[in-house]
Amino acid sequence: MLEMDAEEFRRLAHRAVDIVADDLAGTQVDPQKPARRPTSAGLRDRIMQAPLPVGPLDADAILDAFVADILPYPMGNGSPRFFAWVNSPPSPIGVIGDLLAAAMNPSVAGGDHAGTYVEHAALRWIVALLGLDPAAGAILTSGGSVANLVGLAVMRNRLAPGVRASGLRAAPPLVIYTSTQGHSCIEKAVEILGIGHDYLRKVAVDNDLRMDMTALRTAIAADRAAGLRPACVAASAGTVNSGAIDPLADIADLCAAEGLWFHVDGAYGGFGLLAEQTGGLDGLYAGLERADSVAVDPHKWLSIPIECGCAIVRDRAAMRETFSLVPAYLRDDTELPWFSEFGIQQTRGFRALKLWMTLQAVGADGYRTEITRQVALAAMLRDRVEARPALELVADGPLSIVCFRVRTPTDSPATADAVNRAVSARLQADGRVFITTTVIRGVVALRACIVNFRTREQDLDVLLDEVEAAARAVAAGG
Ligand SMILES: Cc1ncc(COP(=O)(O)O)c(C=O)c1O
Repeated sequence: MLEMDAEEFRRLAHRAVDIVADDLAGTQVDPQKPARRPTSAGLRDRIMQAPLPVGPLDADAILDAFVADILPYPMGNGSPRFFAWVNSPPSPIGVIGDLLAAAMNPSVAGGDHAGTYVEHAALRWIVALLGLDPAAGAILTSGGSVANLVGLAVMRNRLAPGVRASGLRAAPPLVIYTSTQGHSCIEKAVEILGIGHDYLRKVAVDNDLRMDMTALRTAIAADRAAGLRPACVAASAGTVNSGAIDPLADIADLCAAEGLWFHVDGAYGGFGLLAEQTGGLDGLYAGLERADSVAVDPHKWLSIPIECGCAIVRDRAAMRETFSLVPAYLRDDTELPWFSEFGIQQTRGFRALKLWMTLQAVGADGYRTEITRQVALAAMLRDRVEARPALELVADGPLSIVCFRVRTPTDSPATADAVNRAVSARLQADGRVFITTTVIRGVVALRACIVNFRTREQDLDVLLDEVEAAARAVAAGG
């Protein structure tokens, strides 16, 4: 049944809120609660193979099934001991925001309703937090991948005029530069935009896993000599592998000198700038303010419930030129043109509300303090890895990612890699802490990423104790 009367909604929604609040209390206060627990084949089948009911089911029975089969098997990112990928817990007020946004259910394509103004406010706050030009164009997206795609689409439209009419057939081909540590979504964007990954250069990195400027200059010169058209450097303000920040100021200088578009992928690390503002990091973000386009991800370090990304383009008119299908002579809405003229979607969700609510509940200083604390926590984790003879550091930040590995009494790199993979697999199956692996300079490492306002110092010790215990079990053949 689609309709539900207000009293029935009140009763069911109160039940749902109690379920969420109980889960929140368990996640936060019970140290024995695993970060996540594995599902079973039976559960997977029960969820995936269930037939679509022909008639209506009772709403309480549907909630019962959620409580029994879905809620107990989370991804785990609500837990303070979840260190995988770049997934934060949701801010509880953001969770409430999502409920309220769904209840209002506007399309924030634009127009005169409160949702439009809330997104404009939230975007203005994000642009200000990042110290970017208040006149820049900005839009919320589903996440960092689409935010990067939006930025690079504007680049393509600017550097290949006429592309909207006749595609990219015009020679010479555009070339994009990112580092070997650049996120895969840059490659995806280059493919989607029809540039082709053969024209994406993965520039070598230095000892700190930052883009190497000499290698970048050499690659640009070689492409020019080959008759290609160097178009854009897609730098990382926080690589997903190790939390390295490319030399943004040097890249900005080079882009200005060479006439290249300067794009910054700050999906993971853009808001690390807030730790620099407190003195928790030093001088790493200089140059960000000169970017032509920036992608950030409030659903990562700001703990906004997924999905919430953000694309910011310094030249607002160029952004509108890229996406608008309203003829220029009809674009008389100069003050608040519709968001649908600045991005990919027409109907757009009210994802701004959870962001607007959380930004106010935390405040700029609240975020500065929290992100600085998490960067300091990662530094602590690095120190603790180095203090344990059984472990060795593989890459160290400078943001909130620590890559390390279990030392093994073997000369065989393949065996050492296999041991570290086995340790990670064992920890994942157990679920008390959750960590994944990556490959840094050719070796397999355990990768701990802290973007979690619940993680405390003692969780770091639990993580390292569990890693060492898993390593002993693997060595014993377990
Ligand atoms: C550096 C970086 N860029 C881009 C992305 C893609 O963002 P999303 O997963 O929100 O699409 C990620 C995701 O982890 C990332 O870490």
